[in-house]
Amino acid sequence: MTRPADFDVPEAEDFDSPHALFAGLRHGCPVAWSNDLGGFWAVTRHADARAVLEDWRTFTTTVQNVVPPVATTQRRPPLHLDPPDNIPYRNAILKHLSPERLEGWGPRIEDMVARFLDPWLAKGGGDICAEFSFLLPIALLAEFFNLAPAEAERIRLVGAEFNMALQRQDLVTLRAKSDELYDIARALIEDRIAHPRPPESDPTASLLAVRVDGAPLAHDLVLGALRQFLLVGIIAPTTFIGSMAVHLARHPEHHARLRDAPDLVPEALEELLRLYTPYRGFARTAREDTVLGGRQIRAGDALAVVFTSANRDAEVFEDPDTFRLDRSARDLLTFGRGPHMCPGAPLARLLLREVLRQLTAKTARLELTGDIEMTRWPEYGPLRAEVRAIPVGGAANS
Ligand code: HEM
Repeated sequence: MTRPADFDVPEAEDFDSPHALFAGLRHGCPVAWSNDLGGFWAVTRHADARAVLEDWRTFTTTVQNVVPPVATTQRRPPLHLDPPDNIPYRNAILKHLSPERLEGWGPRIEDMVARFLDPWLAKGGGDICAEFSFLLPIALLAEFFNLAPAEAERIRLVGAEFNMALQRQDLVTLRAKSDELYDIARALIEDRIAHPRPPESDPTASLLAVRVDGAPLAHDLVLGALRQFLLVGIIAPTTFIGSMAVHLARHPEHHARLRDAPDLVPEALEELLRLYTPYRGFARTAREDTVLGGRQIRAGDALAVVFTSANRDAEVFEDPDTFRLDRSARDLLTFGRGPHMCPGAPLARLLLREVLRQLTAKTARLELTGDIEMTRWPEYGPLRAEVRAIPVGGAANS
């Protein structure tokens, strides 16, 4: 339903403009209605974002999960189910992401990052999104799900087309690509049924092995869960790596500091995850009339939890727009909060730390050489960023 808008979603954005818009909203209208993207409340302050994420009884994920809304054919757990229905699906993937399980991943991730980064560096850089960050997360996902190289390549291509269709709001292509992702997930399940693997080492087998009161999970929901897993871990690292490169190019002093003191990389990553939070449009729907930030929310209203804004809230982060390595604590919302908080966060951190380490260790400097093309809601970060990589001790290839 249309009602007076507090803000319009801009047609065009650059790397900084979303932050300026959100800062204005946090100060003047922290829970703000827009009639764009299907109509939604933007929840921009940290405290309100937390309240929405933690109060799943009032704010459900079962209706609309992102802004703009995506017409979905099926529910995809665990994100599309409220507690306690989400728990068996969540546990099935969580057990593959425990600290003990992730212990062995360090050297594999180191090799993987080098495998994709070194060719990009050897040619002096280029579009870091198309030539590096679109390739790496899917390679990790492929290893995580024990996928054959051809399956992984198909997911990469279909996933990229799905994401572009989402960016353009091309609903016909979006539906077609979503169906293709379902086909891939279906084939993977059939393969694991025909050729069983131990659930301890295979997330798909793990989902198939779950029993609730002695019964397996409903087949269509297992399919939906796998379809979600195949895409959910790819998009955020992809755009975020682009943001890290833009930051390093704009701040050669930070680049030099991390190269000279690589032990600062984990701390620096946390600060970058705060400043360039890649999701801004994960959504909830109000189950009942309620008040948030002084605004009357009606039953059925969609709310975008704007993580990208909450992480720059001056109420929680002093000097919020500045990259600082001396913050005593960071109450980050980058990976969400509450019952749907990202189970992939430890794996994502491992990957992103290694990217930041190698990017700063292997280059003297990064330089932006063109415009940055940005993603749109529900994401934040570059879709294309031309970056020249100046190698340590030398000049870049032209
Ligand atoms: C920079 C990287 C990543 C970011 C910023 C990120 C962020 C998020 C956020 C904010 C949510 C919560 C959404 C909500 O509450 O509506 C989420 C959920 C989820 N993420 Fe991530 N994620 C990242 C990487 C990954 C990776 C690598 C994986 C897989 C290994 C993954 C798997 C998931 C899953 C399965 C969910 C749904 C959890 C549930 O509903 O219980 N994510 N992610």
